Amino acid sequence: MKKISLTGIKPTGSLHIGNYFGAIKPALELSKEYNARYFIADYHALNQVKNPAELEGSIREVAAGWLASGLDPENVIFYRQSSIPEVFELSTMLMAFTGKGLMNRAHAYKAAVQENQEKGIDPDAGINIGLFTYPILMAADIILFDSDIVPVGKDQVQHIEMAQDIAQSVNATYKADILKVPQARITESVAVVPGLDGRKMSKSYDNALPLFGTENQLHKLIMRIVTNSQRVEEPKDPDSSQIFLLYKLFTSQDEQNALAARYKEGGMGWGEAKEELFRVVNRGLSPLRERYNAIIADKKGLDSILAKGAEKARPIAAATVKRFRKAAGID
Ligand code: TRP
Repeated sequence: MKKISLTGIKPTGSLHIGNYFGAIKPALELSKEYNARYFIADYHALNQVKNPAELEGSIREVAAGWLASGLDPENVIFYRQSSIPEVFELSTMLMAFTGKGLMNRAHAYKAAVQENQEKGIDPDAGINIGLFTYPILMAADIILFDSDIVPVGKDQVQHIEMAQDIAQSVNATYKADILKVPQARITESVAVVPGLDGRKMSKSYDNALPLFGTENQLHKLIMRIVTNSQRVEEPKDPDSSQIFLLYKLFTSQDEQNALAARYKEGGMGWGEAKEELFRVVNRGLSPLRERYNAIIADKKGLDSILAKGAEKARPIAAATVKRFRKAAGID
């Protein structure tokens, strides 16, 4: 039997190339070898996004983004979290096995509290219980589908460890393997995609290149990449330039070697380096953008793919909940 790979993306804005290289592409790679279950974490997004049009738009964008990137819904079970009521049933049951202290230690919650403290306001200001219990909902997403591995970025590793703790606590209580204990899977080589300012590419830093932006948008953003003040004729170090690091994501080894040599020789300015980057980024993203535009335009088609995915997912989810309820004495 193939092992199971599961991951989710929270629809809180447009996808960027960090999401593609850091999450979507490695997850699709794994779907060749594993039974894959990939989903849109829309209830997680609700903690942050309260504008209905914005949330609906992001859900569709993320769904179309997965499909445009090559997810085959015949091969991968692909669904929206909110279509699987068992997620919430399991989440409630897991709460009975989760220490409040464990949640107090979650990075995202701690960061929100700390921010309030620094501002000198009530430590709980603006923090909803959804943020506080986020790791439990995420544990339910994972455990519900008997996941063996969860491809995620480094920032999510703590959440997976919490899911392990919670599953183990259930198994220890009933002295049986009721729930599968998941493992995090990090793709080291592409885990961090640099943003326009050299920090990790992230929506929250406003330094991202959109995955499905127009050519003009892409060009403008690439021209905004922050560089040092080296002059055109000076030799440059490719490996310390985010322009080159981004270039590597879209090119073959031969192309990389050729451009690295030109950096080192001198004579190529940052402006030209950016134009080269734009050329390969646009070359790489154009076919994706075309597929994306076609998918997003076909509302019914997209809804139907997600509905079929939910239909396949629900019996798996129901079996896990049933197993757990039986063990707990509430069958
Ligand atoms: N918390 C993840 C993120 O913000 C999204 C997510 C929700 C997830 N549930 C999941 C990822 C389950 C992996 C498995 O990126």
